[in-house]
Amino acid sequence: MKLEGPRPVATERLRLEPLVLEHARALDRFARLWEVARYTANIPHPYPPRCAEDFARRSTEERRDGGGWVFAVIGQQDEGMVGVIDITLAEDRRTGELGYAFAPWSWGKGYATEAARAMVRLGFGYMRLDLIEAYANVENPASCRVLAKAGLRRIGEQRMPAPARDGDMLCEAYRAYWSQVR
Ligand SMILES: CC(C)(COP(=O)(O)OP(=O)(O)OC[C@H]1O[C@@H](n2cnc3c(N)ncnc32)[C@H](O)[C@@H]1OP(=O)(O)O)[C@@H](O)C(=O)NCCC(=O)NCCS
Repeated sequence: MKLEGPRPVATERLRLEPLVLEHARALDRFARLWEVARYTANIPHPYPPRCAEDFARRSTEERRDGGGWVFAVIGQQDEGMVGVIDITLAEDRRTGELGYAFAPWSWGKGYATEAARAMVRLGFGYMRLDLIEAYANVENPASCRVLAKAGLRRIGEQRMPAPARDGDMLCEAYRAYWSQVR
């Protein structure tokens, strides 16, 4: 199934906008930091020039092809872009993988949780997914906490490919099923 959109999503304190090239400069400001990249599978470090632009371009293509949705997360109180959050669809288009990264100056305010909850709603609503999965590095308790607060359940540990970390990494695997949350 191919879907149009989606439109921007407003939450209490945030606005999730489909990521486009205009967001690249703000993305670059935090994606280049080691504390942001270290527990992620795909954010390279050092962060190459134009990496944010390339990511924004790929995100636009992916949206067009129905492969997934990447959103820029904008703070509604003049904070600008505070994070990026996405759901990547599996081949069957019924399973989506949730991922995110936020700027360190926005951590600890509940923003990642607020955005993740919005993505779960979007995934089970607009995208009509049966299953949302997510993986957090076992050394990243803040991310595990975000996933639990967004309604996903820990199912155990799993080794996941981590191309930007030169191999793989041990993760806590989380799942949410539509049949269990509706
Ligand atoms: C993980 C990340 C998204 C969290 O963002 P955030 O906006 O600070 O998250 P929130 O404020 O919504 O929630 C964080 C929760 O983790 C908790 N937490 C933070 N550090 C923690 C730690 N060291 N141990 C245990 N819990 C911790 C917070 O107390 C909070 O839980 P609470 O509301 O119950 O108190 C952010 O740190 C980040 O972007 N990191 C870099 C990228 C990354 O690791 N992405 C995840 C890849 S899977």
